Amino acid sequence: MAAADKPPFAGATTTEGSHAPPLHVAVVMDGNGRWAKQRGLPRSLGHRAGVEALKRTVSAAPGLGIGWLTVFGFSTENWSRPAAEVAELMALPKRYFESDIGRLEREGVRVRVIGRREGLSTELVRLVDDAQARTDHNRIFNLNIAFNYGGQADISDAARRFAEEVAAGRKAPGDLDEAMFGGLLATAGSPPPDVIVRPSGEQRLSNFLLWEAAYAELVFQDVLWPDYGEEHLKAALAEFAKRDRRYGAVVADDILAAG
Ligand code: FPP
Repeated sequence: MAAADKPPFAGATTTEGSHAPPLHVAVVMDGNGRWAKQRGLPRSLGHRAGVEALKRTVSAAPGLGIGWLTVFGFSTENWSRPAAEVAELMALPKRYFESDIGRLEREGVRVRVIGRREGLSTELVRLVDDAQARTDHNRIFNLNIAFNYGGQADISDAARRFAEEVAAGRKAPGDLDEAMFGGLLATAGSPPPDVIVRPSGEQRLSNFLLWEAAYAELVFQDVLWPDYGEEHLKAALAEFAKRDRRYGAVVADDILAAG
């Protein structure tokens, strides 16, 4: 069975007694600037090295049983960076798709770019649409690139769309529940992340997947993103395997112990 076909929350135990690997891993690719600074390089080179780390991670993930990888490439708040850095960040997906889309297509990777299209250049929107169309039939592995994405922006966009449906008489307020609302978000169709990984030592979500993070395990790693590779991903999975996931319930042994 391809990793991407496994059901969400596959809680099966392995012979080692640990969790099954997470189906969906999300990553805040942080630390490019510090990586560049440590080397006396411009931040732009840190971001370019970050693209290489993304390539290594995408290559390693399917072999580790991961079916979905969602990465944070540009937040709705990143527009406040200096114009030259914003321009550099805008050039990254273009460079990535130009170099890698053929390989991603051949290797069965389904690419989706989640986030607002407003503010992106016409050329970038065309490249994104092309990458999505070329890989839409793929099912081996799913790569979601959050770009011009913010969790709060996504939630407010979804709420606005639902309100518009109500105003048009196509929906009633009572129709809304968690499943319907989740289906209005940019991540609709993806299982929720099992684990959100943040390298670089920072310990916060920074507006990433706020709704979807409800039951995600959080793993923080002391490595700057441009240095990230398979061994760091394996270490994150090993940390995930130690976690006890209960989704708000109690485990059977505790019910018995409580009498
Ligand atoms: C945060 O590090 C990182 C970003 C704002 C950009 C991340 C983007 C990539 C790694 C490449 C994306 C590739 C594609 C294809 C979209 P930072 O610059 O804030 O680092 P710092 O905290 O050390 O300053």
